Amino acid sequence: MRDVAAAGASTGPRVLPRNDPRQYDDLAGEWWRPDGAFAMLHWLAEARAALVPPATRPDALLVDLGCGAGLLAPHLAGKGYRHVGVDLTRSALVQAAEHGVRVVQGDATAVPLPDGCADVVSAGELLEHVPAWPRAVAEACRLLRPGGVLVLDTLNDTALARLVAVRIAERLPTVPRGIHDPLLFVDARALVAECARHGVDLSLRGIRPQVGGMLAWLLRRARASRTAGAVPAGRAPRIVPTRSTAVLYQGRGVRKG
Ligand SMILES: C[S@@+](CC[C@H](N)C(=O)[O-])C[C@H]1O[C@@H](n2cnc3c(N)ncnc32)[C@H](O)[C@@H]1O
Repeated sequence: MRDVAAAGASTGPRVLPRNDPRQYDDLAGEWWRPDGAFAMLHWLAEARAALVPPATRPDALLVDLGCGAGLLAPHLAGKGYRHVGVDLTRSALVQAAEHGVRVVQGDATAVPLPDGCADVVSAGELLEHVPAWPRAVAEACRLLRPGGVLVLDTLNDTALARLVAVRIAERLPTVPRGIHDPLLFVDARALVAECARHGVDLSLRGIRPQVGGMLAWLLRRARASRTAGAVPAGRAPRIVPTRSTAVLYQGRGVRKG
């Protein structure tokens, strides 16, 4: 039987299975709180956006699969894309729309958009939530026009990732309890092979939060929770490259013609 976890940090003790998408409804108020339960998604969105090249033509389209509340949007400002977000969770899409994303409620494994429509497809922190992740990869590649760019980040299917991203991170304020099902983590080699099958040569690199910034952030949060005050302003931890892809990794690839 699957593990279960309390999902409602902000709204009470509803108990849901791991990776149940209803957790995003319970946590809807957290998306845009820079120091809230989804803080790390903000840091990752900034790092993902850095992989997105400026648009090379007018009306270029970026499709953001599993866009959540549109945290990528501010980091794309000035790059010249129309930003379309696809997600299962309506409460998240409402917030994405408020941040300028054109939203489509749908499943990343069957996206209601035409072949080759996208100059860029982003799949940030999505694949490790999709039981049939190869189908989401096939969809991402199908949406890309030849020469289009795929950017993604996800968690690797390793014992170290399960230790760090579930057992440790779920005890810290960086990852909501129960949000991940470690059985769904994405083997990096299998992901590269799947992308290649669909015409995208994916390059990977490991990433992690910068240690000093992360410790300073945890300290600011701990002090604020002791005094029940707001978290004092400070630089958000940066996401930096690391040699190993064993836990968290980014991928970038170009769709062949
Ligand atoms: C960890 S959040 C990441 C959100 C966003 N990409 C970000 O980085 O801020 C995962 C998102 O994927 C969505 N999701 C999960 N499974 C999905 C699926 N099969 N199709 C579309 N969206 C899905 C969830 O609703 C949630 O908004």
